[in-house]
Amino acid sequence: MAATTEPVPQEPMTVVEDLSAVLPMTAEMRGDRLWIGGVDMTKLAREQGTALYVMDEEHIRRQLREYVKWTTYHWRDCRTIYAGKAFMSVAMCRLVAEEGCSLDVSSGGELAFAIAADFPLDRVYVHGNSKTMLELHEAIKAGVGRIVVDSFEELERVSCIATEMGKMQGILLRITPGIKPDTHGYIQTGQSDSKFGFGMNHGLAMEAVRRALELPCIDLAGLHMHIGSQIFALQSYAKAIEVIVHFMDAIRRETGLVVRELDTGGGLGIAYGLPDEPSTVEQYGKVIVDGIKDHCERDGLPVPTIMVEPGRSIVANAGVTLYTAGTIKEVRGIRTYVAVDGGMTDNIRTALYDAHYEVLVANRADQARSEVVTIAGKHCETGDLIARDVRVQPIEIGDIVCVCSTGAYCQSMASNYNKQVRPAVVFVSGGEARVVVRRETYDDMLRCEIR
Ligand code: LLP
Repeated sequence: MAATTEPVPQEPMTVVEDLSAVLPMTAEMRGDRLWIGGVDMTKLAREQGTALYVMDEEHIRRQLREYVKWTTYHWRDCRTIYAGKAFMSVAMCRLVAEEGCSLDVSSGGELAFAIAADFPLDRVYVHGNSKTMLELHEAIKAGVGRIVVDSFEELERVSCIATEMGKMQGILLRITPGIKPDTHGYIQTGQSDSKFGFGMNHGLAMEAVRRALELPCIDLAGLHMHIGSQIFALQSYAKAIEVIVHFMDAIRRETGLVVRELDTGGGLGIAYGLPDEPSTVEQYGKVIVDGIKDHCERDGLPVPTIMVEPGRSIVANAGVTLYTAGTIKEVRGIRTYVAVDGGMTDNIRTALYDAHYEVLVANRADQARSEVVTIAGKHCETGDLIARDVRVQPIEIGDIVCVCSTGAYCQSMASNYNKQVRPAVVFVSGGEARVVVRRETYDDMLRCEIR
């Protein structure tokens, strides 16, 4: 089987190829324009209006297939669960279903999207550290595959609701392995000081296992962990796997239960900037699956069904956001601000995590990125910046500004601050553009107002 990491012969450098690590797979330059999925981004932006999220359908499908390929390559019994929080729409749920993958939902709202998309509910995994009774009811009633239980209270609640409904509910217990990955503090979740899961200290995780085994109408299928997001160093996973497989061994010794399923969460990092060098899905799959197999073999445990839960690495580089340059303000001797028709309402990541993005001008894509500017939003805060001091082509009012790698955690974290309508989402593929989420209207925002 050919490895996907084999060096690809280099074409003569052009600006778009230079940015290929942060652009969707089908991005290309035709004349002076950026095209994605066989669609001219400048024309699309002018037809649909901006701000606009554009997602490359082919890129999303290929990423899902990469996960399926490189996990099942090492162990047949693997499942890829797409983490819907990264980007969710009905069209996305359908695409995930078509690719044969499962879906992680983290709220009743996300479950409602899965239901609206006719997603096979036995392939739905329900997450969250504070699921409400209503959300648990909805999930169990809908017949979701697994609830990932996060606390003692929730164990009791799931058992109680399942008993009431006369159903057996499959669960995974979320374990906090005590591993702190190297990523932004806000998105580390594997360390002991975490609001998520059952910690390994003081025997809490084992107590949860015992309790799950006692309670009626609960089928404890296995364990879950998620150590964090945007992780580059795969050793963090290797360490967490060692901890959790040892815990599986302890469970078997102390309770006799053989863990059938192990979900190692998501978190694989992606390139936001050109210097970023994330691990490949192939390398990740090997570390996860081989790690579990090796430790199970050492401990004499049967290898469980292995699940991975990627979000960002499926959709982030598949997406770009298109804006129109509205004003250009040079603060002499300091910096030039290019303000666009969106901002922290469609991309909160810069304000929240100091995220970095690469930017290009979609209608001047053949020119060198010779200027350094700051792409600012239109909202009433100084912190409302999208990209600080980034290189772009010489830019003029009315140009289409393309911010790369915005397919994950931008639309899904969008808000109506300043009563800004949220942008449309367009899927592009094979020369076709289809709107999968239409732009909001003022009426959409006013719909909940009691007048
Ligand atoms: N599974 C669980 C239980 C999760 O909490 C997450 C992400 C994932 C899977 C998917 O992780 P991914 O493969 O996407 O890294 N808003 C932040 C990211 C928050 C991640 C939350 N959990 C950001 O914009 O960077």
